[in-house]
Amino acid sequence: MRVLIISDIHANIYAFNACRQVFPAYDVVWNLGDLVGYGANPNEVIVASREIGSFFVRGNHDKACSGASDLEGFNPIAALAALWTQKSLTPGNLEWLKALPKGPVKPESPANVLCVHGSPLDEDEYVINVHDAAEPLMHPFAAITFFGHTHIQGGFVAKNGGMHALRPAFGDPKAPQKIEFRLEPDATYMINPGSIGQPRDGDPRAGFAVFDSDAGLVTLHRVPYDIAAAQKDIRDANLPARLADRLSEGR
Ligand SMILES: [Fe+2]
Repeated sequence: MRVLIISDIHANIYAFNACRQVFPAYDVVWNLGDLVGYGANPNEVIVASREIGSFFVRGNHDKACSGASDLEGFNPIAALAALWTQKSLTPGNLEWLKALPKGPVKPESPANVLCVHGSPLDEDEYVINVHDAAEPLMHPFAAITFFGHTHIQGGFVAKNGGMHALRPAFGDPKAPQKIEFRLEPDATYMINPGSIGQPRDGDPRAGFAVFDSDAGLVTLHRVPYDIAAAQKDIRDANLPARLADRLSEGR
């Protein structure tokens, strides 16, 4: 089975559309949450996400923007964007977003795979470094956990009592690129497909992943998109300028 794994689109329809044009063949889509928040096109992103799949895990921005949670833990810029999003969503999209399931969510198949937004231990926890990944990797809920939330593509692997980070080494930030990882059967993984709509790993290109469960392969993709168009919509919506600026920095 080939699974398209996407996360953290953050209402960036330009990044999402660029990815949609190059998505390789897949059987199913797992969406790890934060469809909205920060970007200026939340309704378009919800519609486009529902067109390609029905498997979702809610993100902290999905909760805040739909009123499923308050704005606790949100910085002023994120809170402003969440309030703007809440006002901009259609009533139908707001209700749909509010009803997204809390992670972890277990896909029907394959066995031994789990999907979360933050961490298997806490849906809102950031797994940024090996230290953060230690608990879920050493006491795994599944052999492979796919997670988002950090907007940093790659992940962590534990094998024979040791742990290390997986960081793709991409080259040209102007071209589409992909890097393949072969999964080892006796290792435990936490894998982040990257953020489509607001990457924070220094590479401004949209990120996503494909998991081939039969071959035991994960392919990480980066795709250039029209950043200026996404920035213009953010500025035209009077959202904080930082939300536009950071898209070209990939931070
Ligand atoms: Fe996010």
